[in-house]
Amino acid sequence: MSRIVYVNGEYLPEAEATVSVFDRGFLMADGVYEVTSVLGGKLIDFAGHQLRLARSLKELEIAAPCSDDELLEIHRELVARNDLTDGMVYLQVTRGNPGDRDFVFPDPATTRPTLVMFTQSKPGLADNPQAKTGIKVISIEDIRWGRRDIKTVQLLYPSMGKMMAKKAGADDAWLVEDGKVTEGTSNNVYIVKNGRIITRNLSHDILHGITRAAVLRFAKEAQMVVEERPFTIEEAQGAEEAFMTSASAFVMPVVAVDGASVGDGTPGPVAKRLREIYVEESRKAAI
Ligand code: PDD
Repeated sequence: MSRIVYVNGEYLPEAEATVSVFDRGFLMADGVYEVTSVLGGKLIDFAGHQLRLARSLKELEIAAPCSDDELLEIHRELVARNDLTDGMVYLQVTRGNPGDRDFVFPDPATTRPTLVMFTQSKPGLADNPQAKTGIKVISIEDIRWGRRDIKTVQLLYPSMGKMMAKKAGADDAWLVEDGKVTEGTSNNVYIVKNGRIITRNLSHDILHGITRAAVLRFAKEAQMVVEERPFTIEEAQGAEEAFMTSASAFVMPVVAVDGASVGDGTPGPVAKRLREIYVEESRKAAI
């Protein structure tokens, strides 16, 4: 079955969906995105993704392409038209197509933003076998730009980081700046030390993960202690546990950092428990 994707007001078979070569998303990575998980045909944490999208657009002075109600409607319509049970809805908004290449932003009165959305099917998304074994990470230098809190489509370096990890026989890379871990290539990261969950505090240095916010809320509700501060690779290697979170991986245990086992080298109880709570509560609250 050909996927039905959404482009600027139209639902089209993927082969017929096009964006201009002059689109600033293509020429200048001038765009933002969101990834919302779908479990059992329902959207996980939709309100959080919608709010973060609005913030990213505001920070870059890109107009909202549609109303909040329309955005929810398009997400649901795509899930329905593609008969999606488990997977993701990808959304991208760019500054649009001004009809030529220019560093100056086009006039928003004449250049409308481009809105593209599509689904990705991942049957059994919540039962990812990697959650049972955990993943291995390497550390690399964080040389991304200074506004990582804006979810832009500038993903070349994170993509290169993922390839560096693969070449090193690992699954992902943790980015390090000034000796401290910022985040993973596409996830927020955590360690557990003396039973306390430690994760970097929010700032321009990291993406304000929607899964992070939910997981920290659930952790506090479960009487776990959370400490928001930067940590080093050495601290992670000596920690009891490590894990990461994202909309597509939920809570994923990390069992090795730069070749050193974390804890006993298997997923720890805190990560396992938080994953269970997150998946269970998210399914309940899905819309
Ligand atoms: N990535 N940090 C970075 C750099 C990310 O790209 C992501 C998400 C996160 C986690 O945010 P959230 O919990 O809101 O998904 C943190 C998405 C999933 C992606 O690029 O596919």
